Amino acid sequence: MSFDRSIKIAPSILSADFADFGREIRAIEAQGADWVHVDVMDGHFVPNLTFGPPLCKAIRPHIKTVMDVHLMISPVDQYIDAYADAGADVITAHLEAGPHIHRTLQAIRGAGCKAGLALNPGTGIEQIDYLLDQLDLICVMTVNPGFGGQKFIHSQIDKVRKLRAMIGDRPIHIEIDGGITPETAPLMAEAGADVLVAGSAVFKGGSVEQPEAYGANIAAIRAAAEAARVK
Ligand code: DX5
Ligand code: ZN
Repeated sequence: MSFDRSIKIAPSILSADFADFGREIRAIEAQGADWVHVDVMDGHFVPNLTFGPPLCKAIRPHIKTVMDVHLMISPVDQYIDAYADAGADVITAHLEAGPHIHRTLQAIRGAGCKAGLALNPGTGIEQIDYLLDQLDLICVMTVNPGFGGQKFIHSQIDKVRKLRAMIGDRPIHIEIDGGITPETAPLMAEAGADVLVAGSAVFKGGSVEQPEAYGANIAAIRAAAEAARVK
């Protein structure tokens, strides 16, 4: 089977009701989410604190799709096995999180997960050349990591275009994280992205009692992206 470059919507549970993760996850999946994005923050690499491995383990049985764990932590290596044991399918670490990213990516695959590499908005793509064989996903941050609900940084469109050309036929996903809406999603789909993370734009206006709003939000992002996607 050929590599799946279709548009995938990955709601970030950073925008979910923190007192009700199980129902929130079941609701977004029932409403069309392709992946579930889990934003892990350490209060050191980024100025915010979120989810540890036990929380990931607790929500894992509710996820029927893909558990996409975004580690905004430094150091990262000593926590990889714990997030893999918690059931992550994809683990993404930041290029900026430490001096030995090659080792980090090896460790992620060694733990049985797909390996992702995230790039902050200020980071170039030069170092990726020698990492391509280690990668299953590249996450282009379109906000500075740490918080949901920030404004999309347009300069990253050009980065995605260059990355897409660099990747060629390799089976590597390009994921976009931050400020994705029905207005910004097509810009990234056109540039070559296939996984779109969205927190605020998926959860706005909905709840577990009114999950149809999640469905409408996901559908609007997907439709806008698919219309612009490079076939
Ligand atoms: C930012 C996180 C994002 C964020 C996306 O540090 O990695 O996943 O929650 O949220 P929105 O879609 O609200 O920008
Ligand atoms: Zn994220």
